Amino acid sequence: MEIIEKAPAKINLGLDILHKREDGYHEVNMVMASIDLADKLIFRELPQNDIIIETDSSFLPVDRRNHVYQAASLLKEHCRIDKGVHIEVTKRIPVAAGMAGGSTDAAATLRGLNRLWELNLSLDELAELGKKIGSDTPYCVRGNTSLATGRGDELSPLPAMPACWVVVVKPRVSVSTWTIFTDLAVETLHHPDIEALEEAIRSGDYQKMVASVGNSLETATTAKHPIVGQIKEKMLKFGADAALMSGSGPTVYALCDKYSRAQRVYNGVKGFCEEVYIVRTLEGQLEI
Ligand code: C5P
Repeated sequence: MEIIEKAPAKINLGLDILHKREDGYHEVNMVMASIDLADKLIFRELPQNDIIIETDSSFLPVDRRNHVYQAASLLKEHCRIDKGVHIEVTKRIPVAAGMAGGSTDAAATLRGLNRLWELNLSLDELAELGKKIGSDTPYCVRGNTSLATGRGDELSPLPAMPACWVVVVKPRVSVSTWTIFTDLAVETLHHPDIEALEEAIRSGDYQKMVASVGNSLETATTAKHPIVGQIKEKMLKFGADAALMSGSGPTVYALCDKYSRAQRVYNGVKGFCEEVYIVRTLEGQLEI
């Protein structure tokens, strides 16, 4: 038996940091959306009781440090499964990029093994388990467009964001989320208007949505990696409707309602950065 799961990347249309909490995490108010840039995971039963991960990425460890391993191990323990699994991970989402690549692979593992082992856990139960892996994992269990509060793990689904083209650029630098949060001067942050963004999405208003996107962490990451600001500037110069850093970066994305314009942005940044993609927004393809 073989199960295949698609693990899409997310972008933050909005990311506001409210304050630092007693548990060390930051209270956030975010709007996330899935895009059609995805990893692929294939799950196969193994005769021995092991978790074996194989990947085409030279960046990823295949042991306990890998979110896929953690998710498989957690589910085995939670449901007392003594079967083994071989997991093949084909990576397309840039690593350490602010696109929840590790979290979405972990979420896909929870969904995939739920099917492979016929556990019949609900998506809510899988999301609850996902909290133990990372703040973004519960969101990635369902994907789509959603508000995320708390440390990012309290979710309220939103209607699909207005469909458009997304040009994604991953500069060569890698960013550690932990480092960005640790060095953060919370009192100096810019606060995007998440309510306006939410309203724009609820009313399907693309123009209002592109006018309301914003990310509190952008200044901190740009101070460490000025290339983030340079890419944004280029995207806007080449006609992007909006350009924003995703998560803690360093990935920057542009939104365009017309393909011709997305192509112009793509061509404009391609000479500047190697890792550039044009994809669509993605909605409703994750339900099991
Ligand atoms: O939850 P996750 O392991 O992905 O978070 C990585 C790091 O980012 C945490 O250790 C924490 O330092 C920081 N973080 C935070 N507030 C959040 C999410 C993450 O401070 N809401």
